[in-house]
Amino acid sequence: MKIGVVGLGFVGLVTATVLADQGNYITCIDIDGEKVEKLNRGDLYIYEPGLSELFIKNKGRMYFSTKYAELEENDVTFVSVPTPTVKGKIDLSYVGDAVMSIASADGDTVIALKSTVVPGTARNFSSKIGRKMISNPEFLREGAAIHDTEKPDRIVIGGENEDYIDLVKKVWRFTESPILKTTNENAELIKYASNAFLATKISFINEIANLCEKVPGTDVNVVAEGMGMDHRIGKEFLRAGIGYGGSCLPKDTKAIVGYSKEKEAELRIVSSAIKVNDERVPHAVDIIEREIGNLRNKKIYVLGISFKNNTNDIRESKSLELVQSLEKKGAEVRVYDPLINKVDGMSFVNEKGECSDADCIVVASEWEEFASDELYEEGKKVIDLRRIVDLKVYPSVKGIGIYYE
Ligand code: UGA
Repeated sequence: MKIGVVGLGFVGLVTATVLADQGNYITCIDIDGEKVEKLNRGDLYIYEPGLSELFIKNKGRMYFSTKYAELEENDVTFVSVPTPTVKGKIDLSYVGDAVMSIASADGDTVIALKSTVVPGTARNFSSKIGRKMISNPEFLREGAAIHDTEKPDRIVIGGENEDYIDLVKKVWRFTESPILKTTNENAELIKYASNAFLATKISFINEIANLCEKVPGTDVNVVAEGMGMDHRIGKEFLRAGIGYGGSCLPKDTKAIVGYSKEKEAELRIVSSAIKVNDERVPHAVDIIEREIGNLRNKKIYVLGISFKNNTNDIRESKSLELVQSLEKKGAEVRVYDPLINKVDGMSFVNEKGECSDADCIVVASEWEEFASDELYEEGKKVIDLRRIVDLKVYPSVKGIGIYYE
């Protein structure tokens, strides 16, 4: 098929590459000339496990440009431009610009919205361009994006025009995943409700972690394990930590709460999940203070700065927020991350071992390589804020979500 992809951020690039790998021809558009130039040179500017190899393999079927006019005669054009949340409200200006530009460049292509948008968005733009649009929300996770695109749990296709729906179905047929066909509005809300629910699950277990810290004999990891064995609950997204970060959950929870308030049906549970999430870093700082006392001039060594493992993305990273909070209290922080060695204003070490003078080591993102390390045996104070260290193997490491005398 001939496919267009507009917006070459994380979702757009992964979608384009995976679809090229299926033998499709992809015209990729972004308004950022620098990005387009890089991609035409074969320079992939995002890190995602496995993506670089797939990109190189399929580059011959991908064409990059800043010009919407290149979007001619595509079967389907996906829109994956950003939808930032500004003052609690979704900003749809990038989506609007992209949709209008596609509509005037390619008279026939089916326009499918991948960007996360509030219910009613596809319908509004459909009436502006005089052409029905498809909603096809994205559920991929950074760090597992290729797997999630090739083998998603489900594909949601919202729309009214059966021919358009069939074309989008055809694009994703290779995944063999179940397809939910519905209205545009349901599709749009499914995306928000899913992210809001995931965020709520995380905040829920983080509150249970707080409770465990007050109750002798409890451990949040064991409680989560026992809860997760009930298939109605499920074991995913019950890892206690310093809260959810990244470019999606924080932004989307705020946007859907803002939207629900406008509709006078506030999502109070999601509002609470946001509040609990906002309290995670201050709580982590309290734990560190309790362990090593006043933080002024203390040397703290933080493991992991990305918002989670298997990515070099630091957007809305809780670990980054933690470093900034520790520094505000006068601590001297140095950071180690498997993929990142530079963030403005931050001191990095190149090796995990370079921390001989640290007063405390803090595990702040859930990289597998942080689960065990000789460092944890050297009699230093180690605090695991992600509960990935096996505390039976390393009994001197202190974790969140456990009661300590
Ligand atoms: C999230 C959703 O998981 C995807 O389904 C969705 O498509 C994507 O947003 C999006 O809207 O584009 P992502 O932001 O890549 O994906 O990352 P997650 O794996 O959801 O992790 C988000 C944050 O939650 C991370 O900071 C992670 O450390 C934290 N987390 C996750 C926990 O603290 N505990 C958990 O049990 C799981």
